[in-house]
Amino acid sequence: TSILVIQGPNLNLLGTREPEIYGKTTLEDIHANLGTIAKSNSVDLSTFQSNHEGELIDRVQKAKQDGVDFIIINPGALTHTSVALRDALAGVAIPFIEVHLSNIHQREEFRRHSYLSDIATGVICGLGAIGYEFALQAAIARLQK
Ligand code: DQA
Repeated sequence: TSILVIQGPNLNLLGTREPEIYGKTTLEDIHANLGTIAKSNSVDLSTFQSNHEGELIDRVQKAKQDGVDFIIINPGALTHTSVALRDALAGVAIPFIEVHLSNIHQREEFRRHSYLSDIATGVICGLGAIGYEFALQAAIARLQK
């Protein structure tokens, strides 16, 4: 079983980036924690972060070739802008959970719309770093049944 975690623009700055909104946990810490959970469930976990829309799309397309079973994605600001990322996820037809650290409904109006949510298996937002853990647990539970 193989699960891919994709992180969009600026998520490499976690820990120092607007910590009052996104928390103090670094992306490295988040991925290390997910790796531990995956290992104890015999799941093969890969992680990928990019600040570039095209690289994220290439990674989604590669996931199909690699036989990835499930994607967990925080698309960052591309959530609110990228028809192309949506088309890539729809195109590979790999089930995915959309994760946001912050509650996107509590912030600026432009963050309320997501180009991905209506084709996602589920959406987690506003819970901080632990949201990724819940997403991974949900993905594992789905793949096991
Ligand atoms: C985010 C929310 C987005 O609106 C923002 O552009 C991000 C991070 C989150 O995790 O809360 O980069 O996806």
